[in-house]
Amino acid sequence: MYAQMVETGVKNIRTLDDMSADEQAFQARIDAGVKIEAKDWMPEAYRKTLIRQISQHAHSEIVGQLPEGNWVTRAPTLKRKSILLAKIQDEAGHGLYLYSAAETLGVSRDELLAALHSGKAKYSSIFNYPTLSWADMGAIGWLVDGSAIINQIPLCRCSYGPYSRAMIRVCKEESFHARQGYDIMMSLAKGTLEQKAMAQDALNRWWWPSLMMFGPSDAESVNSAQSTKWRIKLFSNDELRQRMVDQTVPQAEYLGLTIPDPDLKWNAETGHYEFGDIDWTEFHEVLKGNGPCNRERLRTRVKAYEDGEWFRDALVAHAEKKAQNKAAA
Ligand code: 3HC
Repeated sequence: MYAQMVETGVKNIRTLDDMSADEQAFQARIDAGVKIEAKDWMPEAYRKTLIRQISQHAHSEIVGQLPEGNWVTRAPTLKRKSILLAKIQDEAGHGLYLYSAAETLGVSRDELLAALHSGKAKYSSIFNYPTLSWADMGAIGWLVDGSAIINQIPLCRCSYGPYSRAMIRVCKEESFHARQGYDIMMSLAKGTLEQKAMAQDALNRWWWPSLMMFGPSDAESVNSAQSTKWRIKLFSNDELRQRMVDQTVPQAEYLGLTIPDPDLKWNAETGHYEFGDIDWTEFHEVLKGNGPCNRERLRTRVKAYEDGEWFRDALVAHAEKKAQNKAAA
């Protein structure tokens, strides 16, 4: 099924000959590395795929706060609690930048959130896994934010101006997220045997889902071909996944932890680690909503939105009153 979808995705790539004059001029700007801005003409399909990707990115930031929120009241020290709170607060800001970038494409926040709450829009699969111990806070910062950074740094140079500028701000904060996570893992790995075992258990549970964050294999990626042509995607899913593996294995070795992949081995010829097969059945099951926490995450988001309705109404009423007073003055 996916092979056919990918083939369709590739087949739909318009060659210069079958492009309109506007599309040819647009593609020439993309190829020249010119940033596309909200007011510029763009193919409807470019606008649609940006709304798809940027809104799902924003949803991931907001839903991504939930697994870590579970550990704010259980943090082992006041210092760790304040760091975790700062990180979670950053993620809310990342969501804000990204929803705002998506809105420049002519879609409203309410439409985007309705798509999330109805299950129509995706968010990153990684956030559908439970956080079972404090070590998970370390593994998430180290592996999840580490993967996010590898995926997001190229996006700082993507063709859509508002998205690339949002990413520059996000990436500056993301490095703090990854470092604080690795710092937690270092403390545990150098701690008691039980603490090191907790860190190993978290690595075992978060390693493979973190590699799934980069998306399906290139052979199965239905959007990559077009997103690459439009310089939304500057590297393929598999290229960025490989970067994550190559970067993380030495870090795990430094911690004295074992990557849960018996097929992992260094290939001196290619200069990369070879690694085992990803369980794509698990990946697709989580995307279908059958992950360990999908229903709980969506329920929590819908409840938060409904509980906040009075506050949104008050903001609108206040703004309307201010506008009336200004008009009356
Ligand atoms: N979770 C959920 N859906 C995923 C996914 C994942 N890990 N990987 C791929 N998908 C979906 C895609 O959205 C697409 O479905 P759609 O067409 O309905 O949107 C389908 O699977 C096929 O994947 P493709 O590779 O063809 O899709 P893309 O070209 O969009 O590539 C992507 C997928 C690499 C995730 C790309 O969308 C991307 O780079 N997005 C921006 C970055 C992002 O969203 N990161 C998520 C994590 S954010 C985060 O971790 C925050 C940090 O602060 C913790």
